[in-house]
Amino acid sequence: MKNLRHAGRVVLVTGAGGGIGAAIARLYCEEGASVALVDFDEASVRQQAALLREAGHTVEWANADVAQYDACARACAQLAAKLGPIDTLINNAGVSPKHNGAPAPVWEMHPQEWERVVGINLTGSFNLVRVLTPSMVERRFGRIVNMSSVAGSAYLPIVAVHYSATKAAIIGFTRHLAGELGPYGITANALAPGRIETPMLKTVSAQANQAVAAETPLRRLGTPLEVAKVACFLTSNESDFVTGQVVDVAGGWLMR
Ligand SMILES: NC(=O)c1ccc[n+]([C@@H]2O[C@H](COP(=O)([O-])OP(=O)(O)OC[C@H]3O[C@@H](n4cnc5c(N)ncnc54)[C@H](O)[C@@H]3O)[C@@H](O)[C@H]2O)c1
Repeated sequence: MKNLRHAGRVVLVTGAGGGIGAAIARLYCEEGASVALVDFDEASVRQQAALLREAGHTVEWANADVAQYDACARACAQLAAKLGPIDTLINNAGVSPKHNGAPAPVWEMHPQEWERVVGINLTGSFNLVRVLTPSMVERRFGRIVNMSSVAGSAYLPIVAVHYSATKAAIIGFTRHLAGELGPYGITANALAPGRIETPMLKTVSAQANQAVAAETPLRRLGTPLEVAKVACFLTSNESDFVTGQVVDVAGGWLMR
C-alpha cells in the first residue's frame, strides 16, 4: 500500500535535476506531495519534471542558481503561484569541485572557487530559507532539511577545504534555524550522507570510492533513495518533535 504521508504538502527541492535531489523529489511525489523542482541545469530539471508528470505526479520546475538571491525569490514566487504556499524545503543543491579527479589543496585553491562553493553550498541554503520562511512563520508551520555531509564533521581527503567548511557551517546554520524557528512550528534538521552513488562520485577515481566502501561498517556505498527516505522521514509527522538534529546516512562510516 502506498504511503501518502505527504499528501497536501508542497515541497521544494533544490538540485532536483539529478543525483540525491532527483530521488528526493520522486519519493515526495510518491508520498503524495506536490513538488517544486529547482536546478541550474535546465535540461536535467526539465527532464526530471517530465518523468514525474508522466507518472501522474503534480510537479512544477524552475531553472535557478541557488547562489543568486533574486533568482531564488523569482523561482519561489512562480512555483508557489502554481502549487500553493511551500511548506517543506529541502536544501539539497551542492557542489564539490575536483581537478583531474582530485580536490585542490588549500594552497592552490583559487579564491573564486572558494567563493563559488560557499555561494552554492551555504549561501544557497540561506537564500531559500530567507525567501520561504516569512510564509512559514505566518502560517505557523514549516519543515526544512539542509544537506550537510560526513565531511562537515570529519576529515575526508577526497573533498577540498571549501566543501568541508560549508558542510560544517550547514550544521550550525541548521541548529540556529531550529532554535529561532521552533516557536513558529517550523523544524529544521540536517542530513549528513556518506558516499552516495550519484554523478558527484564520478568526479573521483573508482578506487577512491571503493576505499570508502571498504572502511564503511556496512561495506558499501549508499543510494540516493536511502538518503531520500530519511529526508522524507524528517519532514513527515512521524518526526514532528525532532528538530536541530544532524542525521548521518553513511552506513556507519561516521559514528559520533
Ligand atoms: N554524493 C555523495 O556522496 C554526497 C555525500 C554527502 C553529501 N552530499 C550532498 O548531497 C547533495 C546532492 O549531491 P549529489 O551527489 O546528488 O550531487 P550531484 O552533482 O549528483 O547533483 C547535484 C545537483 O545540484 C544541482 N546544482 C548544483 N549547483 C547548483 C546551483 N548553484 N543551483 C541549483 N542547482 C545546482 C546540479 O545541477 C545537480 O542536478 C549535495 O549538497 C552534496 O554535497 C553528497
